[in-house]
Parts: sequence; structure tokens; C-alpha cells
Amino acid sequence: MPTLLIVYNTKTGNTELMAKAVEEGAKQAKGVNVTRTYHATPSQLKEADAIAIGAPTYNHRMTLDIQQLLEKTAKTEVNLEGKTAAAFGSYGWSGEAPENVLEVLRNRFKMNTIEPPIRSKYRPREKTLEECRELGRKIAEKL
Ligand SMILES: Cc1cc2nc3c(=O)[nH]c(=O)nc-3n(C[C@H](O)[C@H](O)[C@H](O)COP(=O)(O)O)c2cc1C
Repeated sequence: MPTLLIVYNTKTGNTELMAKAVEEGAKQAKGVNVTRTYHATPSQLKEADAIAIGAPTYNHRMTLDIQQLLEKTAKTEVNLEGKTAAAFGSYGWSGEAPENVLEVLRNRFKMNTIEPPIRSKYRPREKTLEECRELGRKIAEKL
């Protein structure tokens, strides 16, 4: 069964609400194995057929956990080329992190990115959660 890995970081729960909605949407498609996790390793990324990364913005950047995951994955030369990738995340005023993540996935890992990333100003409202579910459905359809 194809797998979607949702990796995210969150400090106050806002990006987690988005991650859960992406998971919900993806699970509506039958025949897709969905894992939502806080910690992932490069080999988990390698095993997955599609990856969605939830990255809140802190100090104009992605959090260290997400940054280190991407760095380790690059260092271990894991090949993710051609796999589907998406990014999302909560922010307060500038919200760079999801686009930065997607930029790395697109340029360094040659992944097939779904653009633009989904961003939520602070706590996601129903409209944004529905966009996240839609993203999950869209990824699942590609698998
Ligand atoms: C110390 C600190 C730094 C922050 N820096 C930024 C920032 O540079 N840009 C921005 O858009 N939001 C910034 N925020 C706001 C967070 O991105 C926002 O609260 C978001 O909802 C947190 O998501 P989370 O609940 O998933 O951790 C910052 C918040 C804190 C507490």
C-alpha cells in the first residue's frame, strides 16, 4: 500500500491541528497508509511515497527539528526525487517556514511539490482546516 508520511513540529498546537486535518483528508482515500509523526528519520522519508511537512515559523525560520531532519536527509544522500511533497504551517506575521521547507524539497531533493504551501495565521479556522483536508486528499490521489 502506498504511504504518506506527515512530519510536523508545533509548540502551541496550531500546526498540529493542520497536520491532523491533512491526515484526515488523506485517510478519506482508501488504500493509502498514513503516518503522522513528530519525529522522523531520513530512512522514514526514504520509505514513504509522499511527504507532507508541517513547519511553524519561529524567528523567521523553520524550527530546528525540521531543519535537522532536512540536513540529515541531505547528508545521508537519501534519494527522494520525483516523490510528492507538500508543506504547511502556522505563523504569526511573516510565515516563511513552509515556503522554505518546500524550496528545499523542490530544489535539493527534486521532489514533486504541491504549490503553494498552506499557511495559517495562528490557530487554523475551519476554512484553513478544510484546505488542509483537501491537501491530504490531493496527495492521496497522486499515490
Ligand atoms: C518566540 C516566538 C517567535 C516567533 N517568530 C515568528 C516569526 O518570525 N514569524 C512569524 O510569522 N511568526 C512567528 N511567531 C508566531 C508563531 O509562528 C505562531 O504563534 C504559530 O501559531 C505557532 O505555531 P505552533 O502552535 O504550531 O507552534 C513566533 C512566536 C514566538 C513565541
